[in-house]
Amino acid sequence: MRDLISIRMRASFKNAHISGAERICKKEKVSQIINELLKRPKFYDFISIKTEEVKELEFIKMPSIRSFDFKSVEEARAFAKVLLEKAGIKMDIANDVIELISKGAAFGKNMRGAMLIDIDTGQRLEEDKEKGIRTIKVDWEDRDLAKQMLLSSGYKITDRALDALALVSKNIRCGVIAEVCWSDDVDYTTGYVVVNKTYYRINPMKNFGDPFGGRAYFIKAENLENIVDCLRNKAFLVRLKE
Ligand code: COA
Ligand code: AMP
Repeated sequence: MRDLISIRMRASFKNAHISGAERICKKEKVSQIINELLKRPKFYDFISIKTEEVKELEFIKMPSIRSFDFKSVEEARAFAKVLLEKAGIKMDIANDVIELISKGAAFGKNMRGAMLIDIDTGQRLEEDKEKGIRTIKVDWEDRDLAKQMLLSSGYKITDRALDALALVSKNIRCGVIAEVCWSDDVDYTTGYVVVNKTYYRINPMKNFGDPFGGRAYFIKAENLENIVDCLRNKAFLVRLKE
């Protein structure tokens, strides 16, 4: 595929990040997509939209999806830890990572990207513990169709969940073995764990009003360089069927 552009939007208010989104589209749709992205944040005092040519692109599949609801955050997090443990992560490492996210993994604040965790030792591998690593250059081949398909399969899929699914699909392809996440948005309590190429939506990973959230990618330490390169530089479109 030629003439594809990655469009990345981020908006902030009083210097705090409030919204981000990415699309990969054909050149002729750039202005339409920019207009759509301009409308995405509900309010802001700063917005940046940048475009970058995509030179090489691969198609990938999305993981299977399962949803679980719990009565309490404690039960939900316990379930998340069991999933991580079943994927070979020691319980104390899973515990520490979830604890870190819940207290702000950037020295008591939310990170701007994900933690990279050595799956064997639990050591943090990201160079900058406030920035972390951000997955970029990924989108759906046909976003509307993906939303329609997931809705008709009974998933209450939001734009946010659709973004997360695309991001997770790329992470798996780049070599991330397992992942845990919940939003730092005070109104959004659903989080997820990804293990064995399955995306487990889990609610509630935190209580309403809780400002802490974050992401952790579990990886093999020896693959660090390749994984970081893939997450930042390689472009992917998630395709529903191969
Ligand atoms: N959280 C907090 N701050 C962010 C941010 C985020 N998600 N994304 C960007 N920023 C801020 C940071 O201050 C960053 O500086 P830094 O590089 O020192 O951290 C600054 O904006 C510049 O970011 P930029 O380099 O322009 O962003 P990017 O090219 O890496 O693109 C986004 C990142 C905006 C596309 C990405 O964060 C995003 O929102 N992706 C789409 C939505 C998504 O998948 N979200 C997660 C799943 S729900
Ligand atoms: P969000 O789901 O957007 O609220 O993001 C939750 C957390 O994930 C944030 O606090 C960041 O630490 C991290 N994060 C946000 N965007 C990305 C990204 N593109 N890649 C990796 N981590 C991210």
